[in-house]
Amino acid sequence: MRRFEAGRVEIVKGDITRLAVGAIVNAANESLLGGGGVDGAIHRAAGPELLAECRLLGGARTGQAKITGGHRLPARHVIHAVGPVWRGGTAGEPAQLASCYRESLRLAGERGLADIAFPAISTGVYGYPLEPATRIALAEGKAGLARWTALARVVYCCFSERDLEVYERLAAELLGP
Ligand code: APR
Repeated sequence: MRRFEAGRVEIVKGDITRLAVGAIVNAANESLLGGGGVDGAIHRAAGPELLAECRLLGGARTGQAKITGGHRLPARHVIHAVGPVWRGGTAGEPAQLASCYRESLRLAGERGLADIAFPAISTGVYGYPLEPATRIALAEGKAGLARWTALARVVYCCFSERDLEVYERLAAELLGP
């Protein structure tokens, strides 16, 4: 694990469903009713009560985020963010991805959560190129730490060695030690 921004940004490699933080963020789809990838992993680990709660949310649009309980997860909450499908970068994807991070941080900040963990939203099935997505993720995390005073830690949970390398390299470039 590497720390940046005076220790308030952490980059770790692992399974986000195992993190005992205020909220883990799910890379969901507009139905908010589960799927594959990290969405599938979170629903499997949280148990059926998560899906039951998600059914009451009425879905979400791309760029939006909604919050539920963590159920059987070690995290207190799950924030379900709907990332953009990559369509070449001129269909508003960067702004929509930034909105996923900003809205997730807002939901955590408004509840006074001390920490939040993100997966690499949209960089899997949705095909968003990893480097530009990582630059957005890190910039929005830094802004969220400045905006929400109770927020003490933003964790980026990389599932692969490749993602870890990109996150650590760009964090060193964009964030302070
Ligand atoms: N912990 C942390 N990260 C994970 C985990 C996990 N357990 N499982 C997968 N990931 C990583 C992937 O390796 C990728 O880096 O999450 C990132 C996002 O990939 P996806 O889960 O494919 O999400 P996304 O690209 O945003 O596509 C969302 O996929 O699963 C469906 O319902 C979901 O329709 C939605 C779409």
